[in-house]
Amino acid sequence: MKGIVVERKNGAVSLVWQDVMDVTFGPDEVLVDVRATAVNRADLLQARGGYPPPPGASQILGLEMAGVINAVGEAVAGWQPGDRVCALLPGGGYAEQVAVPAGMLLRLPDGWSFAQGTAVPEVWYTAYVNLFLEGDLKPGETVLIHAGASGVGTAAIQLACNTGAIAFVTAGRADKLAVCRELGATLAINYKEEDFLEVVLAATDGQGIDLILDPVGGAYLERNVRALRPFGRLVNIGLLGGGRGELDMALVLRNRLRLVGSTLRNRPPAEKIQITRQFEAGFWHLFRTGELKPIIDRVFPIQEAQAAHEYVARDENIGKVVLTL
Ligand SMILES: NC(=O)c1ccc[n+]([C@@H]2O[C@H](COP(=O)([O-])OP(=O)(O)OC[C@H]3O[C@@H](n4cnc5c(N)ncnc54)[C@H](OP(=O)(O)O)[C@@H]3O)[C@@H](O)[C@H]2O)c1
Repeated sequence: MKGIVVERKNGAVSLVWQDVMDVTFGPDEVLVDVRATAVNRADLLQARGGYPPPPGASQILGLEMAGVINAVGEAVAGWQPGDRVCALLPGGGYAEQVAVPAGMLLRLPDGWSFAQGTAVPEVWYTAYVNLFLEGDLKPGETVLIHAGASGVGTAAIQLACNTGAIAFVTAGRADKLAVCRELGATLAINYKEEDFLEVVLAATDGQGIDLILDPVGGAYLERNVRALRPFGRLVNIGLLGGGRGELDMALVLRNRLRLVGSTLRNRPPAEKIQITRQFEAGFWHLFRTGELKPIIDRVFPIQEAQAAHEYVARDENIGKVVLTL
């Protein structure tokens, strides 16, 4: 089969569509013909050699895919060749075929494209896990979502609003802020023009907010902690602004704050299956009715994966960047 191979020479990275080893699949797995996959920041890091896949996972890039089941393992029930599915992957999505544990599959809603299917697992599970399981978000609470127009951000705004929470966002461009408002954000802050801490405190009569979903890390740590009200939670999911920052522990102590770090990829397979099934039970019907929708910015053919990575690295996208096969 063909897949994307990462070539690194003199610090430059090229993504080349070429022959790779065929995939085998186990009794509890299905073999899927991949029709679409997507770009995630983790792929950019992995391509540069900075984010190795978990033990046992494919070395090929790609944390999610949508496609058609080609064959099912002997212990698999409820799925058959021809079924249209999508799934979160620990790797291997940038290839013509991938093996997926049956417990990780979601059935594509009727009328959905493969691009829509692959735009769901990574960012929507991340938003779900970190808003609700890690962040304990409740109806009526306020949540500040940094990088609101990102793949994760566009999912998190919709999930938060659907649950009756109030979403504030930050983003760095006027068109990004406009999309966040359309998706339900009550307050959209251009962090390049305004100090998000000042705006958030002014908007909450100095009270602060209940939860922050933060992919920025070090550069925002001090202001994030000051933006939280008593019993607030800061859930960090990324380090776009570096890994080091200032932390006033007196505020953490006095306000009884919770600081949480969270990754999806290195959770054990059984936990990912549980997340998939919980997400399906809680939210999948809302995608069928159109109340929740994956936001897709651009679709590239997989042969242009490198251009797609560069587009994401320049912070151009609003929502997901998809690769089709
Ligand atoms: N922990 C996990 O399990 C997990 C899972 C998935 C994703 N993530 C992380 O979540 C984040 C979002 O992922 P994604 O795929 O949704 O990203 P994305 O669609 O590529 O969007 C990321 C956006 O972040 C903003 N940004 C970049 N550098 C920034 C900085 N230094 N300060 C503030 N904002 C910055 C940019 O938007 P602006 O133009 O608005 O600045 C950029 O477009 C990434 O950090 C990713 O690694 C974590």
